[in-house]
Amino acid sequence: MTIASRAAVSSMTGLRGSVRIMSSDVLDDVIGWRDGHITAIDQTALPHRLSVLRIATVDELVDAIVRLAVRGAPLLGVAGALGVALAVRQAEREGWDVSRLDAEVKRIADARPTAVNLRREVLAVAAALPGGAAAVEAAALAVRDAAVDVSMRLSERGAAFLIEQCGTGPLKVHTHCNTGALACLGWGSALGVIRALRDRGALAHVIAGETRPLLQGSRLTAWELAQLGIEHYLAADGAGPFLIAQGHADAVIVGADRVAANGDVANKIGTYSLALAARRAGIPFVVAAPESTIDAATASGAGIPIELRADEEVTSFAGVRVAPEGTRALNYAFDVTPADLVTAIVTEDRVIRP
Ligand code: MRU
Repeated sequence: MTIASRAAVSSMTGLRGSVRIMSSDVLDDVIGWRDGHITAIDQTALPHRLSVLRIATVDELVDAIVRLAVRGAPLLGVAGALGVALAVRQAEREGWDVSRLDAEVKRIADARPTAVNLRREVLAVAAALPGGAAAVEAAALAVRDAAVDVSMRLSERGAAFLIEQCGTGPLKVHTHCNTGALACLGWGSALGVIRALRDRGALAHVIAGETRPLLQGSRLTAWELAQLGIEHYLAADGAGPFLIAQGHADAVIVGADRVAANGDVANKIGTYSLALAARRAGIPFVVAAPESTIDAATASGAGIPIELRADEEVTSFAGVRVAPEGTRALNYAFDVTPADLVTAIVTEDRVIRP
């Protein structure tokens, strides 16, 4: 894997310590396909460094997915799709037989369990394998291009729904994790809705949960909102329910990693507490997610596999142990919000009222 650090002065000025992008085309670099390689922004280096990974093998892709250099349900779908094309190229280079290729493709689909998009898009593109490398690459790039279009339509539909529910505001919105271009391409999902609200003059500000333990809110959402010039505040995860109870938000909007057939929603750990707080405060709790995140094959939240990650992500901070030696952690990466707490699930095609 080679890392091209975009330290080129032309695209980095402004905010002390964090990267400021002068033009949105850098966000087009979130993930791409170049000369048989996957290129992707290393999201673990943000907001302080803009590094673009050049991924050449299945091992490197699985590593990038597992360590969240590439993350966010829709983006995992795109990475999985491009991963099949990458595996075909590697198979040609290394002389793999069909069973080896199938095994490597399965490794990509299994890299993380909760976001249904990953396995779904890997299987969708793997269906093109009999057509050869060109057919697989065309199918993978179609998944990438569709993600951009889906994000834009979802963003507009979500903004229209929130204005219908809450009025033109301007609205104070609470969100969690990162659901922007970094997680979805295009404008994102929940963050795309927020951007569309802003463009309609219906947004006051955003409160973004820091999203421990890996801080997708502090590092990625705050960065994207700063790039977009959208007024925002960061909040400790634990503060979310109190801020909602105190009237600091007119609505909560989040993304999803998997929506079960009954409307139960799996999303970043900490989402469930915001749904409970929103219900108690009588404000809408809205989930913005593409149709590709809806898993009709899973009857309810109980059937959603929830990723359990390493203790160290909780017992250490920025590589420094904060808990006493030997302390164990329960580091679930996602939780499940029951359908009865969800006001609506907004997709690119419809508004679902569970
Ligand atoms: O562990 P992550 O960063 O991949 O978790 C991401 C989330 O939970 C997002 O909210 C979800 O994938 C939706 S992204 C539009």
